[in-house]
Amino acid sequence: MRIYKASDYKDMSRKAANILSAQIIMKPNAVLGLATGSTPIGIYEQLIEWYQRGDLDFSEVTTVNLDEYKGLSPGDEQSYSYFMRHHLFNFVNISRDRYFLPNGLELDCEKECTRYEKLIQSLGGVDMQLLGLGHNGHIGFNEPDIVFAKGTHCVDLTESTIEANKRFFATAEDVPKQAYTMGIKTIMRAKKILLVVSGEDKAEILREVVAGPVTPQVPASILQLHNDVTLVADQDALLLL
Ligand code: GLP
Repeated sequence: MRIYKASDYKDMSRKAANILSAQIIMKPNAVLGLATGSTPIGIYEQLIEWYQRGDLDFSEVTTVNLDEYKGLSPGDEQSYSYFMRHHLFNFVNISRDRYFLPNGLELDCEKECTRYEKLIQSLGGVDMQLLGLGHNGHIGFNEPDIVFAKGTHCVDLTESTIEANKRFFATAEDVPKQAYTMGIKTIMRAKKILLVVSGEDKAEILREVVAGPVTPQVPASILQLHNDVTLVADQDALLLL
């Protein structure tokens, strides 16, 4: 794992955006795996700025997102589809038929998970997967468990994740209780992984992810076994490493 230390959130965003843009420049038709949450917002802002300056071209890029709440439509302001359009897709020249997320409106888990997994395979796999980190070590919505999840699947969100994500909803009751997420196997198949982490509140879990045992109780710890992971974290998040 390569570790880049950033001075603060802005620096982390810029460094990570540099790595993503290098991927797009080196392979204009790259398949990018994208993430939601507050951590990647600064990265997307930076990519938009470079696109607007004429330094980046998304016309041949394809993206697949990690996850989506089950039951939310793409038009719902809390859906990850809405998030991606309002933080990135609407501001760059990615064509509508080249970005994909799990379909929150499909209530048949097996059908949707099979469709999404096949879609990723049909694209030739993910060249670079961007990941944020949940406070309990989750990546995508792969929550701590007794085994590592495999392919795309439907999860019951843990209380701590519902608690952490309620800031985006009117009340905790409004947070969906289930989500579709790429599995650990799906994520580990990506050719390159870019993990971004910011803030002192993530320092303890980041230490477990990077230096602790590989265990499904800390899903992101599996990244220690991937051969091309870059971690960009600010110094607050790296405090215990
Ligand atoms: C959500 C997302 C994850 C994300 C995590 C951390 O649960 N499903 O993909 O990494 O939140 O979010 P944040 O970056 O806001 O801390």
